[in-house]
Amino acid sequence: MNVLVCGGAGYIGSHTVYELIERGYNVVVVDNLANGHKEAVHKNAKLYLGDLRDSEFTDRVFNENDIDAVMDFAAFSIVEGSMADPLKYYDNNIYSMLKLLESMNKAGVKKIVFSSTAAVYGEPKKGIISETDKTEPTNPYGETKLAIEKMLKWADNAYGIKYVALRYFNAAGAHISGKIGEAHSPETHLIPIVLQTAMGKREKMFIFGDDYPTEDGTCIRDYIHVTDLADAHIKALKKLIETEQSGIYNLGNGKGFSVKQIIETAKKVTGKDFKVEIQPRRAGDPSALIASSKKAEKELVWKPKFDSLEKIIETAWLWHKNNPNGYNNI
Ligand code: UFG
Repeated sequence: MNVLVCGGAGYIGSHTVYELIERGYNVVVVDNLANGHKEAVHKNAKLYLGDLRDSEFTDRVFNENDIDAVMDFAAFSIVEGSMADPLKYYDNNIYSMLKLLESMNKAGVKKIVFSSTAAVYGEPKKGIISETDKTEPTNPYGETKLAIEKMLKWADNAYGIKYVALRYFNAAGAHISGKIGEAHSPETHLIPIVLQTAMGKREKMFIFGDDYPTEDGTCIRDYIHVTDLADAHIKALKKLIETEQSGIYNLGNGKGFSVKQIIETAKKVTGKDFKVEIQPRRAGDPSALIASSKKAEKELVWKPKFDSLEKIIETAWLWHKNNPNGYNNI
């Protein structure tokens, strides 16, 4: 089976490519390297450099390869960045999906697994979030992902393109080999920043807000290992093929950890102490996001293997120790 992975040089995309290849799929990767890294792409994948908004380019990829299904990870995904420049997010995220669906339709490819996000829920009204809960994003990033979910629904209705949208909570960790991992520039995500501080690459780190309505005042998130996310994509694809039915699923561990708990656990895992300062809240951050993944567990027969925060941080620590400069071996 030939799978086109859009954004396959990025953090979650590259880990999914590794899992697909390990399980015998043929993989074609498309990436414009806006956030991705060539070095993160598995050597057995066929890589095309280009932009999904360029139909000529995308049509050529479909014409040159007998694609059976698509996984789409290609997007901008930083909450604060989307608050500062929403139109950039609408253009990159929504327009690239629109053009991708047009190309899929022309090529007769009728299956897609899409990276959605917990950010579609906004500030949740209750502790644990289910797929049927209200979607009310508090930032443009979440809005673009929600708009795409709706675009997919109508594309299914009109053209029979079947989709699974996976609403991830906070992706974390790295491949157990330590060969690929999380490397954004600039880095904004909590765990890489904590580990870079533990390594001495940063003099100190900041907690963005300790006045949230949570037990210790810092934001709570549900951290899910990137390889567990990759596994869910493959299970979602299998389900699409077996049932020809579209669906939306949360993916998380079902446990919430505060920013302070992440820092304490990272100190334990790394054996390093470091300086932490409190800063004001970051724009667009909801106070707590915790997943119910019961639907994915039942219908996709998926269960996270990395079920403890220590295990997740250990894999990230291995990647950071092996690659202190990310993919830039300077
Ligand atoms: N944080 C800090 N200090 C830092 C970095 C982050 O205190 O230096 C805090 C944030 O304010 C937030 C928490 O740590 O409360 C997690 O922040 P991340 O930036 O790691 O992740 P987000 O929750 O903002 O967003 C991530 C992805 C989104 C996705 C969302 C879903 O970037 O794409 O998870 O929960 F939508």
